[in-house]
Parts: sequence; structure tokens; C-alpha cells
Amino acid sequence: MAVAAREQWSSRAGFVFAAIGSAVGLGNMWRFSYLTAEHGGAAFVVLYLGITALIGLPILLAELVLGRGSQRSPIRALAHFGGPAWQPLGLVFVAAGFLILSYYGVIAGWTLRYTAVALFAGFDATIADSFADVAQGADAFGLHVVFMVATIAIVAGGVKRGIERTALVLMPLLFVLVCGLAVYAATLDGGEAGYRYYLQTDFSAIFDRDVLTQAAGQAFFSLSLGMGAMLTFGSYLKRENHLPNESLLIAGADIGIAFIAGLVVFPLIFALGLSDRVAESTMGALFITLPQAFAEMGAVGRPVGFLFFAALVVGALTSAISLLEVVVSSAIDGLGWTRKRAAWAMGGLITLLGIPAAWNTEILEAMDQVANNFFLLGGGLALSVFVGWVMKDPVGEVAVGTSGVRWFFLWRALLRFVVPAVLLFVLFDAIPRTFESLAALF
Ligand code: TRP
Repeated sequence: MAVAAREQWSSRAGFVFAAIGSAVGLGNMWRFSYLTAEHGGAAFVVLYLGITALIGLPILLAELVLGRGSQRSPIRALAHFGGPAWQPLGLVFVAAGFLILSYYGVIAGWTLRYTAVALFAGFDATIADSFADVAQGADAFGLHVVFMVATIAIVAGGVKRGIERTALVLMPLLFVLVCGLAVYAATLDGGEAGYRYYLQTDFSAIFDRDVLTQAAGQAFFSLSLGMGAMLTFGSYLKRENHLPNESLLIAGADIGIAFIAGLVVFPLIFALGLSDRVAESTMGALFITLPQAFAEMGAVGRPVGFLFFAALVVGALTSAISLLEVVVSSAIDGLGWTRKRAAWAMGGLITLLGIPAAWNTEILEAMDQVANNFFLLGGGLALSVFVGWVMKDPVGEVAVGTSGVRWFFLWRALLRFVVPAVLLFVLFDAIPRTFESLAALF
């Protein structure tokens, strides 16, 4: 079989923007703000920062090392370093890609809807109450299809001409949008209560295992970890990037955007007197409360709402690209398919798998819980054990492209002891709870 040369990024910026594009998405704006609201505001933020540094960063670096070192998709990368017994883990990663993208596309479809509402109609007072109607059913599925077609078309275009080019255009745009909105939110009267809620720490809420679990799951989701997405992007790198620096940059940008998004969401909600609605709606915080805020803002609500949801669409698109790329690169590597065929066939299948999530938001929420608590945290555990204990000389591999920094052994020690211990502790709590939330569906 003639194998085409492996695709590569055309520049360092291309890789970094694509990886940040993967990380920054609905997780930063939708998931981060609703979890923060649900788990006591600032305490959650502090815990989240700690978890990201201690658990997220080491795994991010581990994925990049595995990808660049093996120059293979997830399905082959693990076997490359650990032997054939590790191949099934790559399959689990691909399965996670199917699962997450199939509901992620549905949420992205909601953001498309609200962008269009802002553009063509404007928000009115009934918008909050109609969320349940528009979020479930044929409309929701239709918009999911639209979003998926865009995602598939970009991935089918290839690493350089599809993924990289899109990220180079969209990520700076997203950054400008989010920062601009934060500046605007700062001008609103009555926003102080929002900042206070968001930034004032009540440490008692941190010592709760459920909060720890949610923070860990969010760190994995937001950084796109635990299912080989960063691994896949790493596999298109030449062996010259300084991977620890790239990891810091990616994680820094991800946290930065999530934090700034909070500076948009909370002042807005509090300035318009909608804070009581935040706690009552979990995942609805963004799609119920914010459109209502935009409706109550009067004339400016429309442009502001448009820019806000447009930023969400942009973030969702560059993230969805990376989710699909995990599946597509595995089909190219594992089945010998062409990129176009892999993108359209696998993407089409994922689109269909979105039907249950588009049908019912409770199913969507359950899928999100299973993905995070089970696939991502479990995948992270497996990755830490693999790189910490199984892989030969990961420190030598990470040193490629650097001048051999001495604290790299610390990274390995984290992967060996700290990361697995925390993840085991968290999984012990998360798995039974995931089953409960599944059982509640029936
Ligand atoms: N990180 C993205 C977000 O915050 C979602 C995402 C993209 C993702 N790729 C992933 C989540 C891989 C988990 C795994 O919205």
C-alpha cells in the first residue's frame, strides 16, 4: 500500500493556534460559567486553577509528547510506545470522540440559532421560556447538521489548508470579541455584584469531593484532554518544538479566555438583575439567562448578543474540528482511508449519533457527564500511567527541541504519583454518580 507522507503544520503559529482553538470552546464560555455558578463562584475558580496546573498541564504535555514522538494517530501512537496491548485504549479515545462531538454539535447548533436570532429578529422577553422548545427536536437537529457540515468540510480540507488556516483566522477574532465584550460589560451599572460573586472566594466550598470532581472534569474538557485530541495535533509536529513551552501557552490561553468569559457573563447577569435565575438553571445559564439579559438591555442587546453568540460559534467550531480530527486521523491511519472519505463518513455518522442529544436535553446532559466523568478522567488516568510508568524515557522525548531543562523529572513524578492518585480519588466518586444520572433517565 502506498502511504502518503504524513501531513504537518506549516508553522509554529499554525499549531499553537489550532491547539488553542481546540481548547477554547463551549467549555470555556458555556460549561465554565455554569459550573462556576453551580459550585459557589470564586471557590470553584480557585480550585479549577490548581487542578489545571497540577493535573491538566502534565497530561497536556504527555499527549503532545506521545503524538510528536510517535508521529501517529491515537490508535497507533500508544501501541508504538507500549506494544499492541495498548491499542484498545486508542479505540476508547476514538469512541470518546464520537460521543463528545455528537452532543457538542447539538449545543453548537443552539449557539447558531441565537446568533441568527440576534441578527434577524432580536431577543424578546419570551426567549428564556422558549429555550426548552428550541433546544430539543427537529430544529435542534437541523442546526446540528449545519454545524457538522461546516466542521466536516474544514477537516476534509486537511491539516494545513483546513484546520490550520481556519484557526489562524478565527482565533484572533475570538480573542478580540471576548475581550471587547468584557470591556463593554465593565461599563454596565450594577455589574459589581457579578464581579463579587465571581471573584470573592469562599474557601469552604472547595473541600467537597463533588466540586473537586467537577473541577477535574472541566479541566480535562476545557483543555481537550483525555481522548487523544492534543496527541493527534502533536503528531503533525516536527521534532523541534519546545513542548513544555507550548503546553504553558495553550493552557494559559485556555484559562485566560475562560476567565475573561466569566468577566462577561457574570456582570451581565447581575447588572440586569437575573442572578436568581443562574442558580436555578444549570446548563441553561448561558442559553436561558443570557438571552434574557440581551432582551432586557434594549437596543444594544441585539449587537451585544450577536457578538457574544458569534464568539461561541467560533469557539465551538475550532473545538469540534479537533474532536473530528481524532476520529478522522485514526481512520486514515488505521483503515487506510483518504482524508475526504474519512471526514465525510465518520462525520456523517457522528451527525446521526447526535439525534438523541438533539431530542432531549437530559440525554445531552447525561452524555456530557459520561464523557467527562468516565471517558476523559479515565483516559487521563490511563495516559498518566502509560507515560509515567510504561513508556521508556519520556523525559528524553520531552527534551527533544529544548536545551534539556532539569525540572522535567518533576513532570514525570507528577504523572507517576500525583495525577493517578487524584484521578483515582475523583473517579471513585464520579463513576457511581454517573451511573446514577444515567439511571435517572429511565
Ligand atoms: N476543549 C473544548 C471546549 O472547551 C472541547 C473539546 C475539543 C474537547 N476537543 C476535545 C473536549 C477533546 C474533550 C476532548 O469546548
